[in-house]
Amino acid sequence: MELENKTVVVTGSASGIGKALTERFVREGATVIASDRNAEAGEKEAGASGARFVAADVSHESGVQKLIEDVWANEGEIDLFCSNAGIAIGAGPESPDAQWRLIENVNVMSHVWAARHLLPRMLERGEGYLLNTASAAGLLTELHSAPYAVTKHAALAFAEWLAITYGDRGIKVSCLCPEGVWTPMIQNAPLLQQTAVTTDVLVEAVLEALSQEKFLITTHPTTLQSFQNKAQDYDNWIGKMRRLRTKAMSLLQGAALSGAGEKQA
Ligand SMILES: NC(=O)c1ccc[n+]([C@@H]2O[C@H](COP(=O)([O-])OP(=O)(O)OC[C@H]3O[C@@H](n4cnc5c(N)ncnc54)[C@H](O)[C@@H]3O)[C@@H](O)[C@H]2O)c1
Repeated sequence: MELENKTVVVTGSASGIGKALTERFVREGATVIASDRNAEAGEKEAGASGARFVAADVSHESGVQKLIEDVWANEGEIDLFCSNAGIAIGAGPESPDAQWRLIENVNVMSHVWAARHLLPRMLERGEGYLLNTASAAGLLTELHSAPYAVTKHAALAFAEWLAITYGDRGIKVSCLCPEGVWTPMIQNAPLLQQTAVTTDVLVEAVLEALSQEKFLITTHPTTLQSFQNKAQDYDNWIGKMRRLRTKAMSLLQGAALSGAGEKQA
């Protein structure tokens, strides 16, 4: 897909990856509708980049539906919908159900609701593009947060299913699976920071994949190497992940001792 003159929606646009995608899509000549639950930052960032802002909380279906209907009413058909808003919360099974439900809604169900409302019209037109942000955690894991690892696996599985089911009917699907990217989400994740790339690097990877209509978008060669290791020898891969987790925990403790806190991505 070429972006010039296309109508593009980006959720989670007030910060990080969504902000960078919005800015670049505008520069590529798209009409961009930027959306976030944070209306103040969202308005400011969208205004600076030349996008129109629509406030929406994608943790419930009506937020996603209203956003889509707003764009239909103001700009018309949506060529590319980027379900990018995401959160990183929770730890293990002890995390309260409310946290599991919230992260499931934001990281997975918002993709389902977007597809539910967009697909009928996209299928009627015989075209449409969904770019869903999952994470390398969807191919591998996230070492601190089970809800994050689980929901990103689910987001990848849903994107795969859409690509297989609707690919012959003109629907394109790409799934963005970055490792560490310098955004507020990893501000207290020292292990990810060691190899984090800038949002500029990520945006280039996205643009190239969109131009080739490629399903899987990664930012680090190590992601697919580790994914191959996992497929070849699962037990060996789990052993490596255990050792990496020990390293991640000691880096986190070091950061906590130096006052950086323990919020994770
Ligand atoms: N930064 C990384 O290293 C990294 C790596 C892999 C995947 N990701 C994924 O990329 C996406 C963007 O992350 P980021 O790094 O830019 O994080 P970020 O925290 O900088 O930005 C996330 C944005 O999503 C918005 N948001 C959160 N919940 C929302 C909701 N219910 N409704 C609407 N907007 C909501 C936030 O207000 C924020 O503006 C997420 O899905 C994240 O899981 C990030």
